[in-house]
Amino acid sequence: AMHLLGIEPLHPTEITTLLDLADRYADENRRGIAHRDVLEGMTQINMFFENSTRTQASFELAGKRLGADVMSMAMQASSIKKGETLIDTALTLNAMRPDILVVRHPQSGAVDLLAQKVNCTVLNAGDGRHEHPTQALLDALTIRREKGRLHRLTVAICGDIAHSRVARSNIMLLGKMENRIRLIAPPTLMPSGIADFGCEVFDDMEKGLEGADVVMMLRLQKERMDGGFIPSEREYYHRYGLDAEKLSYAKDDAIVMHPGPMNRGVEIDGTIADDINRSVIQTQVEMGVAVRMAAMDLLARNLRAKRGQEAAAREV
Ligand code: CP
Repeated sequence: AMHLLGIEPLHPTEITTLLDLADRYADENRRGIAHRDVLEGMTQINMFFENSTRTQASFELAGKRLGADVMSMAMQASSIKKGETLIDTALTLNAMRPDILVVRHPQSGAVDLLAQKVNCTVLNAGDGRHEHPTQALLDALTIRREKGRLHRLTVAICGDIAHSRVARSNIMLLGKMENRIRLIAPPTLMPSGIADFGCEVFDDMEKGLEGADVVMMLRLQKERMDGGFIPSEREYYHRYGLDAEKLSYAKDDAIVMHPGPMNRGVEIDGTIADDINRSVIQTQVEMGVAVRMAAMDLLARNLRAKRGQEAAAREV
């Protein structure tokens, strides 16, 4: 493939190939081994039209560790503020001949549209409620390293599923790898038709967490609840916030995950989030760099091969 736009089009073997490479990068990152030859001579532009800490920083670090020239656009200071459209902005940057564009956008589908207009590799860093593929991949790598496998696990995804691209990408990935997926949310935050994806649906933490190997908490995304019902934080924490009591319903060795940014005291108790025996939240961040290195490495190989073929075709 030329782009990484979502988990939906990926085959399980492609996911495994990417995770195997990311696993190697994760080990080598720990040992301080860099690979500046992998993206040497390539230019990577990060365009984040929505706030980010983890995704933007880790894409930038990943590109630099692989030797790319990396530029992170400050979109708030760009001509978007003067009314330039997403596509015109993308075409402008495309004319500067980048090799890799990393894009986050508040609208679902915006990154797919942009990928059709440019002739470089595009990675989706999160589009609206649609997909956040590198997040699902880093979650998968974290689970695989912690649990020793990525199949036949019971994974509970809890909280604001309706607004979550992280949940969507994880549901796709974990389903493709043949895991049992349980979704736990208040009915107002559960997307309709989600049971069609082979998930079990619960509105109660006690029932939903029973026997879970992995407990994945989601942020309450108030900024996406335009006009809709916004639950009170106190009530929400009482029923759906992960504390020691609710975690006790899961397996004794269940790991706790959260993609960040996290609202302590809303969807998760701070002491659970900080408990290094249960929480793998910092490992998720660490795996994020390795997964983004692997994704850009594999896509750059395809880009080089495609350009090689185009050059050969011009010569005959
Ligand atoms: N998990 C995640 O996407 O975090 P950021 O919004 O900080 O990138």
